[in-house]
Amino acid sequence: MKITGLVSAGAAKVPGVTGTGCFEEDLQKTQKKFHAEKFTAKKDEAFLIPSAAGSAVLLLGLGKKEKFTLEAARRAAARTVCEAKRLRLDRARLELEGFGGKFPAEGLVSAAVEGARLSDYRFGKYKSKPSPVRRVSTFEIVAGSGNPAKIKDAIRKSEIICEGVALARDLANEPANVMTPAALARAAKKMAAGHGLKCRVLGRTQMQRLGMGGILGVSQGSANPPQFVILEHRLTAASRPIVLVGKGITFDTGGISIKPSNDMDKMKFDMCGAAAVIGAMRAIAALKLPFPVVGLTPICENMPGGAAQRPGDIVRCMNGKTVEVLNTDAEGRLILADALAYAGRYKPRAVVDIATLTGACAATFADLATGVMGTDEDLVRRIERAGEYTGERCWELPLWEEYADLIRATYADIQNISKKYAGTITAGMFLKEFADHTKSWAHLDIAGTAWNESGPKPLSPIGATGVGVRLFVELVKSYAES
Ligand code: BES
Ligand code: MN
Ligand code: ZN
Repeated sequence: MKITGLVSAGAAKVPGVTGTGCFEEDLQKTQKKFHAEKFTAKKDEAFLIPSAAGSAVLLLGLGKKEKFTLEAARRAAARTVCEAKRLRLDRARLELEGFGGKFPAEGLVSAAVEGARLSDYRFGKYKSKPSPVRRVSTFEIVAGSGNPAKIKDAIRKSEIICEGVALARDLANEPANVMTPAALARAAKKMAAGHGLKCRVLGRTQMQRLGMGGILGVSQGSANPPQFVILEHRLTAASRPIVLVGKGITFDTGGISIKPSNDMDKMKFDMCGAAAVIGAMRAIAALKLPFPVVGLTPICENMPGGAAQRPGDIVRCMNGKTVEVLNTDAEGRLILADALAYAGRYKPRAVVDIATLTGACAATFADLATGVMGTDEDLVRRIERAGEYTGERCWELPLWEEYADLIRATYADIQNISKKYAGTITAGMFLKEFADHTKSWAHLDIAGTAWNESGPKPLSPIGATGVGVRLFVELVKSYAES
């Protein structure tokens, strides 16, 4: 699908589906213009008006102006492309005139590109026969107003961001027998070489030298050796970068504290944090964002076996703190502990980790929000704002000091699980112990948002969502601007 932009519409009737947005406030005008009395302009309503063969108008309800967000524009674009596919029409276009008022034309154009691209994503490489669904060959965005050069630039930038999301989805949708730790590290290396990023991969011996007892312990039961990927963008000796840390468990069986077999296949998605960091680094490099950024991804498998870590084992992490591993299924925090400690080497301006960390977070928010916890108000607010803007909603949970009591260990400094309750927060409290070198740290729990298993959604088919990529790009932009 090719995406192009225009400032003003040409001929009124063009082949394909033409989407037109309408607020409730402008309903009468639209009803009259299209003789569509039944259309009500309610949020997410789509009202199809077939005209000549091969062409149709799609009225898209945007709800009340006051409540309008760019997410509605993304969904409108997605719906338009989807309708063109359903009608087996080759072309789709979205007229942004009716979306006007609240956001600048470039913002709406970017949202339209995202909606079209993210909804059009497919992971079909293992299907022997291609899917019978017709593809759309062109998606045209009619901006209505705005500067043509700026609109073209907005399209180009959004395409780059969506390529980052698609990369994250591709990496995460691969099965764990293909996307092994070494394969994921190779993919990161290949991406870095293609986009001018510096990349190093540490193996087991180097991790031993660094004292990374957390990731070494988790990976010891697996035939596939652990990997630690380091990606650097615009780093200089003096610069204080943002460090992004992504959990990369390529498969989580739970280890000796083994998981039930139901839905265990979903644990191939336990590297979605790492995938988000790799996808975001690609976008950040390709956009040439003027701020230093480091991406760190500890990668390994969590397997049972004769060499596996046992409940009760005590490991020493890179910052010297000892951990009692009471449950081998709470492995994400163990590998992140070493990566967060490693982040301290950069004297970072801010550290943000992202992980499919706790089932409790999915139980709390379902797939409607990413949990966020942190030590710096300003950073957490920036993340929330980025989430609001991109539609990757984030919601804060507290890290009150009293919660520290719940992970105090009998024999070591801390233990990797708490007794009961507050599973998401106590995981955050655990990570905080390893990020104490930096004033500004936040943790994102994407257990509920990393993949979609409930059925196709406007911006994501079933499978990995690529959550975090657009959020990180927006977050880095916020630092580049101030
Ligand atoms: N990867 C899982 C978390 C997870 C589970 C994410 C289901 C998405 C869906 C993580 O490694 C894990 O197993 N966490 C345990 C922690 C517990 C043992 C304290 C959990 O959430 O049950
Ligand atoms: Mn686990
Ligand atoms: Zn896990």
